[in-house]
Amino acid sequence: MIGPATTAVVTGGSSGIGAATAQLLAYRGCQVLVVGRDAVALAGVARRTGGRACTTDLAEPGAAARVLAEAGEVDLLVCNAGVGWAGQLTDMPGEALEQLVRTNLLAPMRLVREALPGMLARGRGHIVLVSSIAGSMSVAQEAVYSATKAGLDAFGASVRGEVAGRGVGVTIVVPGVVDTPFFARRGVPYARHRPRPVPAGKVATALVAAVERGKAEVFVPRWLRLPARLRGSAPVLTDALQRRFT
Ligand SMILES: NC(=O)c1ccc[n+]([C@@H]2O[C@H](COP(=O)([O-])OP(=O)(O)OC[C@H]3O[C@@H](n4cnc5c(N)ncnc54)[C@H](OP(=O)(O)O)[C@@H]3O)[C@@H](O)[C@H]2O)c1
Repeated sequence: MIGPATTAVVTGGSSGIGAATAQLLAYRGCQVLVVGRDAVALAGVARRTGGRACTTDLAEPGAAARVLAEAGEVDLLVCNAGVGWAGQLTDMPGEALEQLVRTNLLAPMRLVREALPGMLARGRGHIVLVSSIAGSMSVAQEAVYSATKAGLDAFGASVRGEVAGRGVGVTIVVPGVVDTPFFARRGVPYARHRPRPVPAGKVATALVAAVERGKAEVFVPRWLRLPARLRGSAPVLTDALQRRFT
């Protein structure tokens, strides 16, 4: 489905994984609308990809509707925009908590709800939700971030069930650690030895391949599927191992 006739919306297209995805989609001929708050960065990506930019704060309630109105018909919706916060939950300001939930969870839910009717009416479309290994592993010091991503996983799986057999696919992309400004922005650098950061382009490549193959889920790097599955079946053991080895 990815080619010159494909119209795509990529949220968080001004940086990191989103910018790399927009670049790859444009290379494949898609018409791309990138969404974010940083107008200068967005304009740069739009120029490089021959696409359009939509400057908006997705944490705001009316943003999803505005994005979809500006986009027109959407074949591929990539909900990638996200923010992190690391530290003890008791030290987390209420504003930061709300920002994470609004950006990482509410915004994708609103975007998908807005985009789905058109996709279902046309009998074609694809939704990508960029989650995180933190959602599968429930990482300490990232309680709210992990919860938003676990919520996104559940949301995506539920929507996939609702649209099954109606021409619309849902792919959940689960990156481990990616070399982007994400950690600098959250104000706490990545300090673990494993998993090692991968380039944003690797996530973009896996994302596009997963859409083309209609895959429900893709981990980047792929081996991360194992600890995620282990935690699903033995959470107490996996959490103890996480505490021991991180
Ligand atoms: N980096 C990692 O290790 C890692 C690992 C797993 C999952 N992820 C996930 O991957 C996704 C992309 O992150 P990244 O690593 O590429 O980080 P990044 O370089 O910091 O990019 C984050 C993007 O989200 C956008 N964004 C944030 N808040 C927004 C808001 N309120 N409204 C509109 N756009 C907003 C930013 O755009 P503006 O600055 O223009 O607003 C930016 O384009 C996120 O969902 C993140 O949780 C990242």
